[in-house]
Amino acid sequence: MTQYLADSTIKPLSILDLAAMKRAGEKITCLTAYDASFSTILDNAGVDAILVGDSLGMVVQGHGSTLPVSMSDMVYHTACVARGRRRSLLIADLPFMSCATVELAAENAARLIQAGGAQVVKLEGARPEIIEFLSNQGIAVCGHLGLLPQSINQLGRYRVQGREEDEADKILEQARQLEQAGAAMLVLECIPAQLARTISRELRIPVIGIGAGVDCDGQVLVLYDMLDIGIGRRPRFSKNYLQAAGGGIDAAVQLYVSEVRQSLFPDAEHGF
Ligand code: KIV
Repeated sequence: MTQYLADSTIKPLSILDLAAMKRAGEKITCLTAYDASFSTILDNAGVDAILVGDSLGMVVQGHGSTLPVSMSDMVYHTACVARGRRRSLLIADLPFMSCATVELAAENAARLIQAGGAQVVKLEGARPEIIEFLSNQGIAVCGHLGLLPQSINQLGRYRVQGREEDEADKILEQARQLEQAGAAMLVLECIPAQLARTISRELRIPVIGIGAGVDCDGQVLVLYDMLDIGIGRRPRFSKNYLQAAGGGIDAAVQLYVSEVRQSLFPDAEHGF
């Protein structure tokens, strides 16, 4: 492990590498992680991007939503993950209310990058003004549309977004606006596969889906969901890879990587 962490000959992937994968039609693999050990396992398995998601509030901290997660939590877990990985691109979430103003967003994005070691910061919602500001400061930003867990008190429950035509049109238009504003990549959560396909084909930036069908440029899952070790119920769009691979964590992550690369995951059973 010491030798592994000290190895500085491997450069992490950049946002340009992910964009090149999209252009080449190669699927991008992404999983969440919150600590150095899982980060190393994911990196060793060839996961292209690791997301330090604010889902840690639910799967690590045991809260009922992502709302209690603080900036200090995010910086702490991002720094842990940064120490465990060599090649994977490191993305970190900006948590609830950390982007209430552009100034706050800039300050908090800088913390994730400087103290946490993040290469990309992700923020939820149709906030082109924030993305434009951060992007103008040289920050690589990932947007997040569809189901927005930080808005759970407005949504009422976690459910598929964009089923109705007007809702779908709105999400498509928001995706265009985020790309226009300078987003370097986009996560689509829990939307119909057909809408995600349209968005992925239209946008030039990499589009990573979770519960958004197989035609996104890549896939992300919450690690504890795909290992089925979370305290909550596994979402319908996630798959129990620990079981599918026969019980080992390394094998489970490798199977996920292989199935995403071959467009075998998600299948119809794990989409909308
Ligand atoms: O917080 C998180 O893990 C996320 C994923 C669900 C995309 O944002």
